Amino acid sequence: MLDTRPAVRRHGAPRTTRPTGAERTFAPDELIVSKTDPRGVITYANDVFLRVSGYGLDEVIGQPHNLIRHPAMPRAVFGLLWSTLAEGRELFAYINNLASDGAHYWVLAHVTPSYGPDGRVVGYHSNRRRPSPGAVRRITPMYEQLLAEERRHPSARAAVAASSGLMAELVAAQASSYEEFIWSLISSEES
Ligand SMILES: Cc1cc2nc3c(=O)[nH]c(=O)nc-3n(C[C@H](O)[C@H](O)[C@H](O)COP(=O)(O)O)c2cc1C
Repeated sequence: MLDTRPAVRRHGAPRTTRPTGAERTFAPDELIVSKTDPRGVITYANDVFLRVSGYGLDEVIGQPHNLIRHPAMPRAVFGLLWSTLAEGRELFAYINNLASDGAHYWVLAHVTPSYGPDGRVVGYHSNRRRPSPGAVRRITPMYEQLLAEERRHPSARAAVAASSGLMAELVAAQASSYEEFIWSLISSEES
């Protein structure tokens, strides 16, 4: 049984959270929402975000979004996220997040740029819903492969370059673009 109870709130200064291996989830009709400034600093988080991550609003506002980064997530995915946003495009991605109590929760995130009246990017917006277990099962081996590649490289820069190349290869073996690849996973959720 997956744990759908809220994370236990933690108080005090942020510290490094160690994953416990416990999985948490949320209801299929719920959305986890956050907004950031252009650097990825959190400016808004909804109640579902706070409940599932186990953080209080005061603990997330003003923090970089890697607050909930899970160490099992490959850098290549975030590299793709930021390069896509930098081009003014939106991105769907399966992301494993780390709650404040060490539990993890998978999301299917849709991340978009937000524009001001002058047409400039004022920040970013992410809406996340609960992914199907089947999609998580399909994406997990790919992320494990990317992470293994990253661990072979001592510098973060070399790691992300190597795993981004590998990710492009793995995607190309299955689809003509990342969009097509991710949509094949998303549409497999419906069936
Ligand atoms: C709108 C938005 C939402 C994001 N949501 C997440 C998230 O849910 N989990 C996460 O690990 N990173 C998220 N990121 C990416 C983080 O900013 C960061 O790039 C990532 O956690 C990797 O951190 P690192 O470079 O310190 O390894 C988000 C970024 C933006 C702009």
